[in-house]
Amino acid sequence: MAQDTFNFIVNKSQLAETKLEQATLADLNEGEVLFSIDRFALTSNNITYGVAGDMLNYWQFFPCKEGWGRIPVWGIAKVVQSRCSEVKVDSLYYGYYPMSKHLIVSPVKVGEHGFSDGAEQRQGLSPVYNQYTLMTKETGFLPEHYNHQIVYRPLFMTSFILDDYMLDNDFFGAEQIILSSASSKTAFGTAFQLQGRDKKIIGLTSGTNKAFVEKLGLYDQVLTYQEVGEIDKTISTAYIDMSGNRRVLAEVHHHLKENLVCSCGVGITHWDALDGEDPRSLPGAAPSMFFAPDQIQKRTKEWGGEVLQARIGVAWDKFVKFVDQHVQFKESLAPKAIDATYQILIKGPAPDKAYVVRFPEN
Ligand SMILES: NC(=O)c1ccc[n+]([C@@H]2O[C@H](COP(=O)([O-])OP(=O)(O)OC[C@H]3O[C@@H](n4cnc5c(N)ncnc54)[C@H](OP(=O)(O)O)[C@@H]3O)[C@@H](O)[C@H]2O)c1
Repeated sequence: MAQDTFNFIVNKSQLAETKLEQATLADLNEGEVLFSIDRFALTSNNITYGVAGDMLNYWQFFPCKEGWGRIPVWGIAKVVQSRCSEVKVDSLYYGYYPMSKHLIVSPVKVGEHGFSDGAEQRQGLSPVYNQYTLMTKETGFLPEHYNHQIVYRPLFMTSFILDDYMLDNDFFGAEQIILSSASSKTAFGTAFQLQGRDKKIIGLTSGTNKAFVEKLGLYDQVLTYQEVGEIDKTISTAYIDMSGNRRVLAEVHHHLKENLVCSCGVGITHWDALDGEDPRSLPGAAPSMFFAPDQIQKRTKEWGGEVLQARIGVAWDKFVKFVDQHVQFKESLAPKAIDATYQILIKGPAPDKAYVVRFPEN
């Protein structure tokens, strides 16, 4: 019998406009699996998926009607029907989901620890995003850390590899490192990893988030976006930009000039501040985008996948202990909570909250 479901969709050209669209689930074809989503996390990273949806193909994962899109989220889902003998009903998988009640996938490359979705529209997209990992103790998933996994795991991976990339490049000769959107989980995860690297770490943030950033104790100096002029401009500096704020980017470049030896774009939390001076014409190092998969590939080749994972695992355990002292999970219930939480993220979330949306059990 046809089953009702729903999808949360957003207007691609007006991200604050949303709809909860009712739909009917198709019957499964041979080889397919039906997921019922249990919970997902929402951070500014998901808003960035929407902002960069066309440029980086994020809309392609979960297609919907013309002009609208389904923003991907990291979450946990349970297999409720399976026509793939290797994927068992009732098992839990961590991976990339839409903000929907259900998702149908076509498992390929099924192994002991998970599978990849072979759905046609997902081919050609980064394999990392097509991977579904079976959640067992052996694969490192402890029920008490499910929320940590969905909120922080994708972000901390970037923090870990970004610190490693800087180290691997001898910090491009920088003596100090500036991180913008210093209150974001990805930025302070990076600052956490940079501890002990013998570099001065400067956090740039909004006035309202300054106290939170100071309390983290990870930055040697915390400045607001209005205080860029207070950065020591006499020493070589690297800028890691999580905000994507063009005005701030220009100010940092003009302030530091030739002493800015690296300008590395990672995020766009200030997604409504993307107008400004052409980055190509700014003084100092040319702004470039950080591409985590390149560094992951390099280290996988040099260290081997197992060593890389083990190193991330050690760092992750320390980070989880740290983060719980500063950020609280805020769980709420779908479907109502989806839009409410999404709108908080669009406007700018409180840095001491980690938002998790859960679905009621059927
Ligand atoms: N390239 C990659 O591989 C990669 C991987 C992971 C994350 N990222 C990027 O890193 C960024 C941070 O993501 P996250 O999930 O860690 O963020 P988050 O923890 O949700 O960050 C929240 C912070 O972002 C700023 N912010 C968010 N929305 C805002 C708004 N509408 N107006 C003004 N400020 C706003 C505020 O910081 P401030 O007041 O301090 O500015 C806020 O405290 C995202 O752009 C994400 O896409 C990139």
